[in-house]
Amino acid sequence: MSAIADPLDASVAALVPDFAPRLVAWQRQHGRHALPWQQTRDPYRVWLSEIMLQQTQVTTVLGYYQRFLERFPTSRQLADAHLDEVLAMWQGLGYYSRARNLHRCAQAVRDLHDGDFPRTAMQLAELPGIGRSTAAAIASFCFGERAAILDGNVKRVLGRLLAFEGDLASSAQEKRLWRHAEALLPAAGADMPAYTQGLMDLGASLCSTRAPQCLLCPIQDLCQAQRHGTAEQFPVRTRKLKRSRREHWWLWLEHEGRIWLEQRPARGVWAGLWTLPLFEDEAQLLSHLQPLSTLPPEPLPRIEHALTHFDWVLHPRRLALQQPADLGAGAWVAREDLPRYALPAPLKKLLG
Ligand code: ADE
Repeated sequence: MSAIADPLDASVAALVPDFAPRLVAWQRQHGRHALPWQQTRDPYRVWLSEIMLQQTQVTTVLGYYQRFLERFPTSRQLADAHLDEVLAMWQGLGYYSRARNLHRCAQAVRDLHDGDFPRTAMQLAELPGIGRSTAAAIASFCFGERAAILDGNVKRVLGRLLAFEGDLASSAQEKRLWRHAEALLPAAGADMPAYTQGLMDLGASLCSTRAPQCLLCPIQDLCQAQRHGTAEQFPVRTRKLKRSRREHWWLWLEHEGRIWLEQRPARGVWAGLWTLPLFEDEAQLLSHLQPLSTLPPEPLPRIEHALTHFDWVLHPRRLALQQPADLGAGAWVAREDLPRYALPAPLKKLLG
């Protein structure tokens, strides 16, 4: 505990009697109730939804969620599956480290917890791929634990509520906001599912990044930023993601309806996914081709693909080989077998 008093503590304390009850009542009346992961308290199902929802819209997640659960109805079945199959089912959701962690997490639950998810946020946060906020969401939804969430949307909601001036690029300031988030929790565990969902629902609807609909907000009179008309100035975050740009050449080799694919290493971009061979420049690609064909490859329109930290420009070059070649670590994959391979989204699109 810090010995220095936080000047915000008093205003947070003043909000405590009204904030949670108001949010809970609003969620019960106006929030989302029909989502499939709200119809269960099975931590496996709730965990799966939270991981899928981390970087993906609800409407996209819905289809994937059902298909995933049909194939892996229990975390044990997921743990026992082959990673390639898990990655293939994740195709199109992006951010594949989530799928790899999902598999590792299911294995940890199987091996360390006898197949049952632990029941506290603290233990959940020990599992691969489950951060503090996700652990709290699962524990509050499934077990009514009084644990605070603080994902990107909630940082915005609470940042505005408290007119939180701290720069959330600083971990000390982020810790402060966590502490305030904990102080604001409802008194009763029974209210935790509606409260947690209410924060998410408010962040996903009225309390939007741009043009928040403060006049409809159930806590507008409690909101410090609304009081000063400064909602859009919060949360404060100075660090901008520095995006860089990379360029590669992509070799699309075909032989009698088969395509040559190579699996990416277990770490880094597109880890574990299957792609066309990549080259730093065109000369490198051509020298790789030299022993295989005297014909030049066909240049295809470039592809621009945005990843988290950089924009990737890919130049596909296509060539049909007369002879099958053994190109080392990789596989000639028949078109009809492609759905069994986890491919990055732009490659799936390219191969049609
Ligand atoms: N985003 C993250 N978790 C969610 C949930 N439980 N419901 C809707 N959207 C979410």
